[in-house]
Amino acid sequence: MATAVKKRPRISSAAGRRPSRKEVLERKKAIDELIRKAIAVKDHLVQFPAFHKFQGNGLSVYLESGHGDQLTLPVRKYIQNLLKVNMEEPYGPEWPSEEKVKRQEMVAPEARYIFIKQYSNGFTTECSMNQDAGVEHMHTPCNEGHLVGFVHYRFVLEEELPVVYVYELQMEPSAQGKGLGKFLMQLIEQIACKNQMGAVMLTVQKANTQAMAFYTKLRYVISSTSPSRVDPQIGLEKSYEILCKTFDCEAKSKLEDGDEEL
Ligand SMILES: CC(C)(COP(=O)(O)OP(=O)(O)OC[C@H]1O[C@@H](n2cnc3c(N)ncnc32)[C@H](O)[C@@H]1OP(=O)(O)O)[C@@H](O)C(=O)NCCC(=O)NCCS
Repeated sequence: MATAVKKRPRISSAAGRRPSRKEVLERKKAIDELIRKAIAVKDHLVQFPAFHKFQGNGLSVYLESGHGDQLTLPVRKYIQNLLKVNMEEPYGPEWPSEEKVKRQEMVAPEARYIFIKQYSNGFTTECSMNQDAGVEHMHTPCNEGHLVGFVHYRFVLEEELPVVYVYELQMEPSAQGKGLGKFLMQLIEQIACKNQMGAVMLTVQKANTQAMAFYTKLRYVISSTSPSRVDPQIGLEKSYEILCKTFDCEAKSKLEDGDEEL
């Protein structure tokens, strides 16, 4: 994942004075604890039954959670292949080195996944009804489906704030434009809010105009931490932008507005 040119760390306090060292340490401890708690949740999807499946636009899919260090070999191969299909073009000459980085990021213990699987033909009405009736592990399928896309996200610190960072959002070409990307991003935003993260952030290649249009439609904005906003000259040299959607005043101030002091 590309890293933005960082502004200097900012200091803020509600009272408009410099916070004491004790206050700074307490705040840092509280934020670290939020991230630790969010990471400790084994399956974020369980808490959101409305996102266990998606039907419409000719698709019938269900969602499943995963961890970077627990991916099976076929799933790792699927991810690598889909990344190549979708991302080789927007990355251009940067792709060979980026592909290596992405292979390492894919299996990191802190990598969290939501997979989209399409129901196999064997999916029955009875199975569907059982799931609708709220049986335990509602999103567990009666028949194993095949993958059509995924999101890879992490709980991280950005500008000293806890955020969900979307590392990858990838749909197979045949599953694009059917509402699944929006559905997954809505879920990620719910996960972020439930875990008291200040924002959802992500990096997009400037050449990926489709993704830019998609995130703009979802009301993501170019973050004040993006190279083009840190320094327009550096921005011209970089091939990516950092986007964000914020959920509280502090995150808006730091990640959208780029205020030095609150
Ligand atoms: C980008 C991507 C994740 C979007 O997911 P998707 O499932 O195709 O998008 P959706 O069907 O959910 O679209 C959601 C909304 O965005 C809009 N949108 C999607 N692509 C758009 C585009 N190229 N231009 C304008 N609007 C677009 C849709 O019209 C839709 O609007 P609506 O809510 O009013 O109906 C998907 O196309 C994809 O995987 N692309 C290849 C990989 C990639 O580029 N990933 C992003 C890397 S940062």
